[in-house]
Amino acid sequence: MCGIVGAIAQRNVVPILLEGLQRLEYRGYDSAGLAVVKEGQLQCVRSTGRVADLRERSAATEGPLGIAHTRWATHGVPSERNAHPHLSNDRIAVVHNGIIENYEELRASLTVAGYVFTSDTDTEVIAHLIHSHYAQGLSLLAATQVSLSELVGAYAIGVVACDEPDRLICARRGSPLLLGVGIGEYFIASDVSALLPVTRQVVYLEEGDVVELKRDGYRIFDAGGAQIERPVQTSELSNESVELGAYRHYMQKEIHEQPQALANTLESVCNSQSLVPGIFGAEAAATFADIDSILILACGTSNHAGQVARYWLEELAGIPCRVEVASEYRYRVSVPNPKALVVVISQSGETADTQAALNHAKAQGHVHTLAICNVPESALVRLSKLRLLTRAGPEIGVASTKAFTTQLAALFLLTLVLAKQRGRLTEQQESQYLHELRHLPSAVQKVLDLEPQIAKLAERFADKHNALFLGRGMHFPIALEGALKLKEISYIHAEAYPAGELKHGPLALVDKDMPVISVAPNDALLEKLKSNLQEVRARGGELYVFADADTHIREADGIHVMQMPEHAGYLSPILHTIPLQLLAYYVALQKGTDVDKPRNLAKSVTVE
Ligand code: G6P
Repeated sequence: MCGIVGAIAQRNVVPILLEGLQRLEYRGYDSAGLAVVKEGQLQCVRSTGRVADLRERSAATEGPLGIAHTRWATHGVPSERNAHPHLSNDRIAVVHNGIIENYEELRASLTVAGYVFTSDTDTEVIAHLIHSHYAQGLSLLAATQVSLSELVGAYAIGVVACDEPDRLICARRGSPLLLGVGIGEYFIASDVSALLPVTRQVVYLEEGDVVELKRDGYRIFDAGGAQIERPVQTSELSNESVELGAYRHYMQKEIHEQPQALANTLESVCNSQSLVPGIFGAEAAATFADIDSILILACGTSNHAGQVARYWLEELAGIPCRVEVASEYRYRVSVPNPKALVVVISQSGETADTQAALNHAKAQGHVHTLAICNVPESALVRLSKLRLLTRAGPEIGVASTKAFTTQLAALFLLTLVLAKQRGRLTEQQESQYLHELRHLPSAVQKVLDLEPQIAKLAERFADKHNALFLGRGMHFPIALEGALKLKEISYIHAEAYPAGELKHGPLALVDKDMPVISVAPNDALLEKLKSNLQEVRARGGELYVFADADTHIREADGIHVMQMPEHAGYLSPILHTIPLQLLAYYVALQKGTDVDKPRNLAKSVTVE
């Protein structure tokens, strides 16, 4: 969601900006733009097309200092005039990620002061505000600092001025931004992947930081205005990990990366003979000893991972667990329990609602916090006392795949550690579960081998407008995830129900045009599920069943069975996720949608 790139160098930075924007495309956007400073002039190019279109439009643009942006509309429709950068009096250009909450008041006072607004965005007020202070004689840095103190809301910004060819200013509060360190050149970006072609040396900015970058160095000022050093780190992200390679889409690549991603996430545990709380951080043992329940806060796919974990945590660890949608929890009057472990789950670690929910929980007196996250330097990891990093590698496709299954693996580890600490795991069970975890990557690989059959099956969905997903027990959240994947990338309306709820409403929708997809593991609820499937068949519904080998669910008229290779016990939700991801992917191919960048969606939702 909104991507920022900026550069100050001794060479033309336009190719760097465009390459960076291209690499941020996955975050989701509906327009793009850039501004460069050259010989005292600001040149600005904007487009409502893809970055490729912006590239064509900027063929004649060049300069050694510039900022660029991909916009995901919040204030104002996607249009060229609302695209960033926003200019003030053709002298100052600003790119912004986040939302300024007091922009209407600021806009009113700036209008009175004579500023003319040409867009509907909240960002334009930042440009005029900085200009108003700069025009009073403040330096660009000071003008930006004063302006930021007048803003309420979240931002990451980049600022350039045509009279300041040797300076790039940036700042962050509530939205991600980092610095890239080169030799005689410096960069800013929303995430590291944008900068990999030019540097892997990065500085992660803290909340409230303001930075002045010049060609011979940079100065960081913290939220209180004091100059401060931040460590330069070498990013471990490799160029290959963000390149498509032989795959047609990132989503397909990421589905296939799951065996490796799971192996990486489980590496430290699988190499050892027993589970220790220390994998969650030094304070984990003491924290886990002090808790009496779990509160999981997350959004989207990450929330579904939390919903699976609830079954594991209550059944295996015997610990009460609540799972809440972060955007609801943050505004709900709830009853705080300082003995609860608050677990935030997030691929990006930057989701605004999850951050706000965590801060809300803390403000309510919750002290035990754990982040399960895929991005080590992210806000959620920094805000939490404990952490377990999923090691899925960069996930570029907007529809989350490998992040989800690695979150599940991490949550299963949490379950086992808590079960052990609470005396509910014998040594024998522990080594059995560790054995199953070691086997997980190859079990997932076997499910991936179903790809050709699923691709064929997907052809039957090409003309469908609705779909119903059924699951029971810990596979109900997998049905939810399957439905979410399908709607996200194929735009087919899909809903998920616990199969037992079928007769309380959704059965009314079942007819020959409503495909019903069922997750059918060989577990204690199998016979109940089979009865639910009969209810669908009796109403003429077409069934697509992903069944474990020994469930004895047979192909018949109107019943299509995909045979899953094995039953994985408690880890079964991870295996059953894979065919639903593949189904959504191949249905989207049938529909011809933009698989990696579905309409209206963003990878990382950094605004409310
Ligand atoms: C967006 C993404 C989803 C993701 C959700 C939560 O909606 O498109 O794929 O599940 O945000 O993101 P997070 O980074 O917190 O897991």
